[in-house]
Amino acid sequence: MKLLMIGDVVGARGCSFLARKLPALKKQYEIDIVVVNGENSADGNGVTSQSARSLFQAGADIITTGNHAFQRRNELSLFENECILRPANYSDACPGHGYIIYDMGSTQIAVVNLQGVLFMDSLDNPFNTVDRILEAIGTPNIFVDFHAEATSEKRALGHYLTGRVTAVVGTHTHVPTADACILGSHTGYLTDVGMTGAEDSVLGVEKQIAIDRLRLHVPVRFKEAKGACWLCGAVIEFDKQCGKCTKMESLIVR
Ligand SMILES: [Fe+2]
Ligand SMILES: [Fe+2]
Repeated sequence: MKLLMIGDVVGARGCSFLARKLPALKKQYEIDIVVVNGENSADGNGVTSQSARSLFQAGADIITTGNHAFQRRNELSLFENECILRPANYSDACPGHGYIIYDMGSTQIAVVNLQGVLFMDSLDNPFNTVDRILEAIGTPNIFVDFHAEATSEKRALGHYLTGRVTAVVGTHTHVPTADACILGSHTGYLTDVGMTGAEDSVLGVEKQIAIDRLRLHVPVRFKEAKGACWLCGAVIEFDKQCGKCTKMESLIVR
């Protein structure tokens, strides 16, 4: 089977580029299930019912998020949808849930969303959280979206979960890394899958706005960049009987 993981979709342009490219990609790579990180899919960050709908209509089966999950206060009921995840290491008091066991008839696929704690909000320890979740999951087909800033934390979690999950794919930095591999002949790994949206930008944001913020320290409102888009993803091929990743390939579509 094949799972396609797509990195942070940024704004309306990212959503419409995804809608344009995803159907053909699913056919070309014979994809069975699509996971999309949607934490920036609403204009100006976060996820809304409208942006989630456009990701599902484009072909996403499951939407993961991250530090911008709850950006839109009046959209929190979104997380009642079992196919929209927020990081599992948020407090239990938060809306929503951090993993799903997705029933595909002949097989079950677990998708776990976790957030890093290095240079990010201090949440529950993601290593301990995933240990607890794995105890509760019966299927060997387990995919982790680790939404984290530090490459060290991501690689450490990849090695920690080697042999225990099908793949660990990083999101959040919006910059694709070149280290796709299979750890311990079992676990597909990629430090960061990248983003989907305007490429000539700073992480999808208009360049001058990002430059002003960093150079002049003035408060700014992020605006989605214009220009040609790219879609960054990872195709994870796996053996559904044992949950072993057999091929891990990163993907950039312009
Ligand atoms: Fe993001
Ligand atoms: Fe993020």
